[in-house]
Amino acid sequence: MKINDTNKLFYNKMPVTEFKEHVKHAGLSNCNDLLAIKSYISGDVLEIGGGYGRVISWLLKNTKNKITTVEKSKKCLLLKRKFPNINIYSDITKLKHKYKTILWMMSGIMDFSKTEQQEMILILSSILTKNGIIAIDLPKAIRFKKYKQFYTLESEYGTLKGYYPSKSELIKYLTKSKLKINKTIKYKTATTKTRIIYLICKK
Ligand SMILES: C[S@@+](CC[C@H](N)C(=O)[O-])C[C@H]1O[C@@H](n2cnc3c(N)ncnc32)[C@H](O)[C@@H]1O
Repeated sequence: MKINDTNKLFYNKMPVTEFKEHVKHAGLSNCNDLLAIKSYISGDVLEIGGGYGRVISWLLKNTKNKITTVEKSKKCLLLKRKFPNINIYSDITKLKHKYKTILWMMSGIMDFSKTEQQEMILILSSILTKNGIIAIDLPKAIRFKKYKQFYTLESEYGTLKGYYPSKSELIKYLTKSKLKINKTIKYKTATTKTRIIYLICKK
């Protein structure tokens, strides 16, 4: 089974209150990540992995862009109820439209194995407009002493597995998809952790 499919079971079960605790712990409740890239958000926006709607809520308050979200877990149903006027899908491979801004926030890329990350980048490249940007958010550095770039979070809701791509691995994915890093933005979370957002564009 794909790591991303196993993780879906975890996200299905994790209650929103617990999800919000994770966001708080990451220092992202105030959306410092989105504030850091606000000036780069334009055109039709696609968010990968809507969760409980943190990013959608911020976009609705702070921008006038058309928003689309794709959320694979059962949280998709919650999003559809909470945001009836937003385009919400559960399967990224079904998207036909092209987006000027694609947001993949809060380490969302880490919910995938290395091979799955490459596949996702290829998909994102195919639905990005010519002059569009993809924002990929990650912690600045991560050191899982025992597992190196792999991490496992055991909880009462199941297991969340992840993979932290190094910058050179990310560049390899991008090169295969005719993309490149255009800008690297460092920012501090509310819990004073440093995180990085790679702004990616077509070559
Ligand atoms: C770390 S959370 C981030 C939530 C939200 N983007 C935020 O920043 O607050 C990752 C989310 O991506 C969703 N997800 C994981 N794999 C996905 C996929 N293949 N397609 C759509 N959503 C996915 C998960 O279910 C989860 O809700």
